[in-house]
Amino acid sequence: MTSPIIEFKNVKKQFGELALFDNFNFSVAEGEIVSIIGSSGSGKSTLLRILMTLEGIDGGVVNVKGEPLWHMHKGDRLVPADKKHLRKMRNHMGMVFQHFNLFPHMTVRRNITEAPMRVKGKTRQEAEREAMDLLALVGLQDKADSYPAQLSGGQKQRVGIARALAMRPEILLLDEITSALDPELVDEVLDVIRNLAKEHSFTMLLVTHEMYFAREISDRVCFFDQGRILEEGPPDKIFVAPEKERTQAFLNAFISA
Ligand SMILES: Nc1ncnc2c1ncn2[C@@H]1O[C@H](COP(=O)(O)OP(=O)(O)OP(=O)(O)O)[C@@H](O)[C@H]1O
Ligand SMILES: [Mg+2]
Repeated sequence: MTSPIIEFKNVKKQFGELALFDNFNFSVAEGEIVSIIGSSGSGKSTLLRILMTLEGIDGGVVNVKGEPLWHMHKGDRLVPADKKHLRKMRNHMGMVFQHFNLFPHMTVRRNITEAPMRVKGKTRQEAEREAMDLLALVGLQDKADSYPAQLSGGQKQRVGIARALAMRPEILLLDEITSALDPELVDEVLDVIRNLAKEHSFTMLLVTHEMYFAREISDRVCFFDQGRILEEGPPDKIFVAPEKERTQAFLNAFISA
């Protein structure tokens, strides 16, 4: 087996009195699509936020592509990462958020070109050409000059996906990207992810409440409970015959909702 692209080793994460992760271990293989399900407050977003370097850790090590994320090598010691190291590591990943987080005062095009120009030093021309390709990929070429407020939720989220892809990440982190959408807009966003999963070799880590989608797209499903992975396995196993009572109760609540 090749070494994992993402690896959490004995990770600790504390929020004040709350010890959310304690000796947390988790790994993802290159190209693997992993869905994370679980109740509110179980630590799903925190896991993605730690990877995106938006949230620090209080113990253990996180490796991305075999290199420590929150630490760096100094001689043969590991010391806390500096800003430069975090920026470099963050470039392996792209994240799409539940509430879009688009820049409201920028056009769709600028939303997508901003980071490649500022962080990767691309020329405007190059960044704009790539932005138009990405807008074509998400079916929004005609919205390049619109502002976020002029878009539907589904369109905003497709821009969010294009913006994440503009940095050419190898790992995509998707945090409940359809939860804020009206039901009729969910599919247009999931279709984009379906196509990405089919046609590109991304590693994907997605937090989702779309159980049918998780079942269809994932190589593995992890059920989170109070900062632990209580149960994990192939989707047909987790959704059809979960072993743990809490997993069963969680899934039953969805079926009867
Ligand atoms: N910045 C923070 N400060 C204090 N506590 C936090 C912070 N971020 C998260 N927490 C706490 O950590 C726990 C896990 O939060 P997290 O957002 O990871 O949960 P989640 O599984 O994504 O939940 P949801 O399904 O509601 O999005 C919660 O109890 C939350 O209150
Ligand atoms: Mg969350």
